[in-house]
Amino acid sequence: MRFLVCVLWSFALTGLQAQYELRPGDAGGIGKWYMGREIAHTMCAAHAEWLDRPEREREERPLRMLERMQIAPTDRIADIGCGTGYHSLLMAARAPQGMVYAVDIQSAMLDSVFVRSQRAGLSNVDVVLGSTTDTRLPEGRLDKVLLVDVYHEFDHPVEMMASIVRAMRPGALLFLVEFRREDPWIPIKDVHRMHKDQCVREMAAAGLVWERSWNGLPWQHFLVFRKP
Ligand SMILES: C[S@@+](CC[C@H](N)C(=O)[O-])C[C@H]1O[C@@H](n2cnc3c(N)ncnc32)[C@H](O)[C@@H]1O
Repeated sequence: MRFLVCVLWSFALTGLQAQYELRPGDAGGIGKWYMGREIAHTMCAAHAEWLDRPEREREERPLRMLERMQIAPTDRIADIGCGTGYHSLLMAARAPQGMVYAVDIQSAMLDSVFVRSQRAGLSNVDVVLGSTTDTRLPEGRLDKVLLVDVYHEFDHPVEMMASIVRAMRPGALLFLVEFRREDPWIPIKDVHRMHKDQCVREMAAAGLVWERSWNGLPWQHFLVFRKP
């Protein structure tokens, strides 16, 4: 019996690995490819001040983006790859009877989210240390998920998306925000940007249905997906 379980498990692992390709690419990439796209290096916590740069509001219009999420006061929202908590705190203020799960794989980032949420008097921010394959969120709990400038960094996108989709309730929405690869003038390296079609194909592979997009952000795609 144990032998059979081992064989089945190694078949499952081989199947997952087969979805990735290892070959050299961009200096900012990790040399691992998924669905024809090279995965980017993770932003290190040492560079986190870029996430809180004063010009971010003008360059990315996060407040307009949050309006489009139509956050309800009781929403349970995950900010996956929350970084220093830029969006987590703004969302928590809009969901006072709900909960924001601020998930990251770097504890230095989460320390900063914790301190900031305490200072802001927000008791509905829960910091969660995830792994590169698992959000460690409870199953079927989320109403909304926000992914800002992180999806292209997932070094195991198949496993991460499976974990995110598991944590969403049926009908829950996922908001994917990525720098537009289509617009060469946007001052972000290519490996950190994505084509809209690529985003839609990769979310479909994760079992999500593309619901709508909004073209109101200066630099980023804003794409909305639903869990059936
Ligand atoms: C470019 S930063 C964006 C931070 C934040 N979303 C923002 O816009 O301010 C990407 C963050 O995603 C995190 N990250 C990368 N892979 C992750 C994964 N598999 N699960 C959770 N967080 C991840 C990194 O540690 C980093 O803090």
